[in-house]
Amino acid sequence: MSHLHVTQSDALLHIELNRPDKLNALNAALFEELADTLSQAQRNPAVRALVLSGRGKAFCAGADITEITEADAIEGLAFANRGQQVFRQLETLGKPSIAAIHGYALGGGCELAMAATLRIASVDAVFGQPEIKLGIMPGYGGTARLARLVGKGRALDLCLTGRNIDARQAEAWGLVTQLVDASDNVVDTALAQAHRLTQLAPIALDHIMQTIDQGFDLPLAQALALEANHFALLCATQDKQRGIEAFLQKRAATFSGE
Ligand code: COA
Repeated sequence: MSHLHVTQSDALLHIELNRPDKLNALNAALFEELADTLSQAQRNPAVRALVLSGRGKAFCAGADITEITEADAIEGLAFANRGQQVFRQLETLGKPSIAAIHGYALGGGCELAMAATLRIASVDAVFGQPEIKLGIMPGYGGTARLARLVGKGRALDLCLTGRNIDARQAEAWGLVTQLVDASDNVVDTALAQAHRLTQLAPIALDHIMQTIDQGFDLPLAQALALEANHFALLCATQDKQRGIEAFLQKRAATFSGE
């Protein structure tokens, strides 16, 4: 059975983690499928946004612990590098992604969510980096992205204690960008939000993501220069013409990605 269930509707790709009996734990086969799916999505101009969610009772309970059991240092490095590579592929895809999170988002599950562009969670969602309880630490970008999203102190708190936080706490900390009531369907909310993103100018979305990704760690003057360069590039697109003409004519713009 495939470890992912992938469906495309219009310009929207929905990737569902499909190992519900193992709470969607991330094993090597799942990573292979995810890397392939992301590569295809990147190449396909008909895909403009992605939603990631988990089937069953959890978003994802982390890396598959059974695959770490026998790992020595060399294999551990390969294990961490592989997950980091695929999550970075998602983060730098050039197309916005939304993680739709319900239930557990622990360890690699939390790290996968953090590599997505946006995170929408239902109130029942639970976040944490419990690796310390196994005598290890986050290896798929958890220390780096968590500290950037919620601050160094809170990242140290979660990674050192291995404690979980609920969705409301995650929203208050900025780990989650939108909270959905339990009665609502978090996946439907994410699909609707992603659909709105597919209506926007794809080149502009890509450049905004690139600018924030690359500019975040730069000194302010360099980040501003980077922003100006990306802004200049967007001024040369047909989508900029279409967007501004539509505004002046008081109608909705249709963006072609040129
Ligand atoms: N890797 C491999 N298998 C996992 C897993 C993981 N990260 N998380 C859950 N599973 C498996 C369980 O072993 C169990 O399999 P089984 O039915 O064959 O025994 C199945 O998924 C269901 O999990 P279970 O523990 O029975 O569910 P629960 O509701 O009682 O507990 C959790 C849920 C998330 C609290 C618990 O599964 C857990 O602590 N998982 C590990 C989380 C973790 O440490 N992640 C970081 C890994 S580096």
